[in-house]
This record gives sequence, structure tokens and C-alpha cells, in this order.
Amino acid sequence: PIASVADQRGRLLRDLRLSVIDRCNLRCRYCLPAEVFGEDFRFRNLSELLSFDELTEIASAFLSLGVQKIRLTGGEPLLRPNLPDLIARLRDLDPSLDLALTTNGMRLASMAPDLKKAGLNRVNISLDALDPTVAERMAGRRVHPEHVLEAAEAARSEGLGVKLNTVVQRVWNESEVLPLARMARDRGFPLRFIEFMDVGTQNHWDRKEVVTGAELRDQLTGLSPLKPLPIPFGAVAREYEYTDGRGTVGFIESISAPFCGDCTRARVSAEGELFTCLYSSTGIPLKPFLKSDENFPEKLKSIWRHRNDRYSEIRGQANSPKVHEEMWRLGG
Ligand code: GTP
Ligand code: 5AD
Ligand code: SF4
Ligand code: SF4
Repeated sequence: PIASVADQRGRLLRDLRLSVIDRCNLRCRYCLPAEVFGEDFRFRNLSELLSFDELTEIASAFLSLGVQKIRLTGGEPLLRPNLPDLIARLRDLDPSLDLALTTNGMRLASMAPDLKKAGLNRVNISLDALDPTVAERMAGRRVHPEHVLEAAEAARSEGLGVKLNTVVQRVWNESEVLPLARMARDRGFPLRFIEFMDVGTQNHWDRKEVVTGAELRDQLTGLSPLKPLPIPFGAVAREYEYTDGRGTVGFIESISAPFCGDCTRARVSAEGELFTCLYSSTGIPLKPFLKSDENFPEKLKSIWRHRNDRYSEIRGQANSPKVHEEMWRLGG
């Protein structure tokens, strides 16, 4: 029997986002800007990260509390050595678990077969531009959008579910919105546009650079009128269908239309700190609990019961946290 545990706002614990490594091979300007995180920036040593035993123990405890979906994140999760071994261990915990991964796609093409064999269900791939010059300006490093799309095709042909994620920042990649939407329709990939979020303190967030979902939908009517689809419980993206019958498109509107009301997500950083909100200023170290004699799932339960976070809904108010953990340490 699976326990279910509700927080202060009646929200059940349903999803776990597990960061498996803090480092990344890109320097996206909205996440790990290159001018802040230079070549000499030191990420955590591999020895400081949760081991596969610890990650599996943590996942198992969350599953016993009603988690049905685990998403592996980073940094860039495909940089974690032997990742397919971890995926296989998580799959062994529960054959019906929805097991997903969020990646920048740089290493995906060669790894897709092993990820699938290990038991991964799906991947969300970040792609902010088709134009290589714009893509490079967004990613802070040389990227080849065509290679990322080839990786997406490779993942799909292995049988993995594939979605594309595009963060939009005013001026920087607004010109890519229509080309990306057209490409996604042509190739049959579900695409979600994401509003530039104020996570962390080092990504130079400025509300003026947020292109809202409503503005994006205005642009997209150039392709076809859009019609909203029903919102599944707990989803972060609002899905719309193109009324010409050629697919759907999603919008993750954490700034203009927050979705804290049914937020069922817990996050664990690569060093093992639990965050009950993407915007928490501090995490709760889990390693000490793993080592102690205390009942670990009971401990998690009591933390979740006390949860009252809803940052996106109270942004700017006096009682809202001003300092947040960085996006790349939480995996989004
Ligand atoms: P699906 O299960 O495929 O819907 O994945 P997802 O959209 O939950 O995960 P993904 O890693 O693809 O995240 C897409 C965007 O949604 C990222 O920018 C995340 O930071 C953002 N996001 C995910 N969960 C939350 C959340 O609880 N709060 C906020 N504010 N943003 C979130
Ligand atoms: N705002 C919105 N989305 C972001 N991501 C990273 N940083 C930000 C930000 N500041 C996205 C990545 C990836 C997902 C994990 O989070 O592009 O798709
Ligand atoms: Fe890396 Fe993802 Fe952050 Fe880009 S958004 S720098 S790919 S962790
Ligand atoms: Fe959940 Fe916090 Fe995001 Fe709101 S801001 S949806 S509470 S993670």
C-alpha cells in the first residue's frame, strides 16, 4: 500500500526531480551565464555527489510516499558517468514508474539506445534556436541545432517519448519562435515555450526580457489559430492545439500564469539536498537521514506535511524569498 501525503495546501507528493550532477557542458544565458561561470568555475567533485546507492534509496523512499514520476536532471544529466546503470536501478524499483530525463541533447544521440534499454521512458530536450548563431548566443557555447534535432530523432526512433523545450528571452531569441514552431509541426515534435524565470540570483533576470505565453500565442496565430486544451492535473505546461489540425504547442507560464495550486513536485540536488520549491532559498540535507536510524520515509513525510511554498504566486510580495538556489543546481 502506497501512503499519500498532503502539504499545508492539500497538495500531494507525486513527482520527484532528481539532479544527478551539477555540471553542464553549456552556459545558457538564463541559467549558467558564461561571464559568471567561466572556464575556471569549479563544480562539485564527483565524490561529493549522491552515489547510485544513495540515489536509489532516496527514490525508493519517495516511491513509498506516492511518487509516480521521476525526472532526472542536472546540470546536464548525461554527463553523470554510467547514468544507464542508475536508470536500470530506478526501473527495478517500479516497472510502472514514469521515468524521464531533461537534457540539452549534446550527448543524447549516442546514448539514446542505452538509455532506452535501461528503462527510461522519455526525454525533454532543450532547444532555443534553429539558427546556429542565435543558438550559440543563447547557449554560451558552440551548439549545432541540427545535431540536437538528429539526437531527438534518434531518441524517438529508439522508442523514447520526446518533447522540445524552448526558453524565450526578449530580443535574444524571439526571432526563433516561428521557425521553431514550424519545425516542430513539420517534424511532429511536441514543443513547449518557457517564460524566462527568475530562478537563482546570477542569471540577470529582468521582467522586461520575459516574453509571456499570451504574446507568444499572438505570434503563433500566424501559423494557425490556437485552441486551449483541457489542463491535466499537476501539469506545468498549458497545451493548445493548432486548429488546422497540425499538432499542439505548450506554454510554461511560471511568470504570467503561475501553477503553484497543484504543484506536486519535490526536488533533490546532486549533493542530496531536498527543495520543496524551485524557488526555495535553502535545501534540507538528506544524507544525514540516510545514515541515521530514523525512518527515512517518515522524515520525508513530515517535511512534505510542513510545505507551504507557492513562490510564483507571491513573487514580489514582502514575504516572498529574495534569494533562491540556482537553476542548474536544481535541474529546473
Ligand atoms: P513533463 O513531465 O514532460 O511535463 O516535464 P516538465 O515540463 O515538468 O519538466 P522539464 O524539465 O521539461 O521542465 C520544463 C520547464 O518547466 C523548466 O523550465 C522547468 O524549470 C519548469 N518547471 C518544471 N516544474 C516546475 C515547477 O514546479 N515550478 C516552476 N516554476 N517551473 C517548473
Ligand atoms: N527560465 C526558464 N527556464 C529555464 N531553464 C533553465 N533556466 C531557466 C530559466 N531561468 C530550463 C532549461 C530546461 C529546463 C530544465 O529548464 O532550458 O529546458
Ligand atoms: Fe546547462 Fe540546462 Fe542550464 Fe543550459 S539550462 S546551462 S543546458 S543546465
Ligand atoms: Fe511549485 Fe514552487 Fe514552482 Fe510554485 S514556484 S509551481 S510551488 S516549484
